[in-house]
Amino acid sequence: MLRRLHPEQPESFAFTPANQAWAEAQITKYPEGRQASAIIPLLWRAQEQEGWLSRPAIEEVARMLDLAYIRALEVATFYFMFQLQPVGSVAHIQVCGTLSCMLCGSEDLMKVCQEKIAKKPHELSADGRFSWEEVECLGACANAPMAQIGKDYYEDLTTERLSEIIDEMAAGKVPVPGPQNGRYTSEPLDNLTSLAEGAEDRDPHNASVALAVKLGDTIKRIDGTEEPLRTPWQRQDDHEVETPLDPKEPEPAHDRPADASGVTEQEAPASSAAKPVSADFPAEEPQNAIDGEEAPEGGEPVAPSGEAAPATDANDTTEGKTGAADPVAPGGVYNAPRTQEPGDPAKDDKSSKRPKDK
Ligand code: FES
Repeated sequence: MLRRLHPEQPESFAFTPANQAWAEAQITKYPEGRQASAIIPLLWRAQEQEGWLSRPAIEEVARMLDLAYIRALEVATFYFMFQLQPVGSVAHIQVCGTLSCMLCGSEDLMKVCQEKIAKKPHELSADGRFSWEEVECLGACANAPMAQIGKDYYEDLTTERLSEIIDEMAAGKVPVPGPQNGRYTSEPLDNLTSLAEGAEDRDPHNASVALAVKLGDTIKRIDGTEEPLRTPWQRQDDHEVETPLDPKEPEPAHDRPADASGVTEQEAPASSAAKPVSADFPAEEPQNAIDGEEAPEGGEPVAPSGEAAPATDANDTTEGKTGAADPVAPGGVYNAPRTQEPGDPAKDDKSSKRPKDK
């Protein structure tokens, strides 16, 4: 699907002061030279503030990150979570149309949206207060059919209930998100069949719904004043330290700053100086490795003295005695199985085969 900027664009974009402070703080999360990695959180906050991403908003984010505009545009047009056209001023309804929801009636939900909002997805309603679109699976298939409205999920929907929700929102209310058919989460419709103990004493809402109700930002445009700005990753530099840094966390290498490509080396503190045991470095180090000698090319056996071991005796049928069966030569040096040439007696010699039982 081709995603283009909307033909009608506002003159300008600016973050609210609180959102600006939040965005600047996010940029400090990334190591020197990697600030462009903040592009998705910044674009997302611009969308949370305005409802959609306009060209001036994308340009402003690119400017803040010292990025070419085309780089920011590439990100904004790639991800479907970014709305590139104005959305309803009250709510944008995203109806899941993937398998479970489709089988459970999402097409009927979309008909409700067509009747109450606009014929086509991404079109504004006549009063500009609502818009809708079909989206791919939102991961709440056990509560199909469902729709995301603003930041929250409305699950186990029916056409009647979706219609009521739109009416309630139009009247300035925010219906409680979550299952809309009386289910607590995604338990069987006729009640819990397991883990039923203590179900009577539980909170009236499941944890997700309880948080949504507490925050109350389901369809709110975010201006940055909702939560105090917290920057725990800056605790090394300021004294708002609450918890010490995890010493196991990798961090940019001190003596290797970003190169021309902007890449930094990350390093984690070594936990051990030991080397793992391997074929090249077995647990018991071979004498010749200690002496700094290497096995000759071709993997010929090396005798403890350092001289080449005698070639495999093709007539020796004793198990475990042939070179091919024993890749570790005396002295512990690993040798690749010997390659045999055509006509090699070791290959052709019939006497090396086990005689048939009589
Ligand atoms: S199919 Fe609709 S949430 Fe997964």
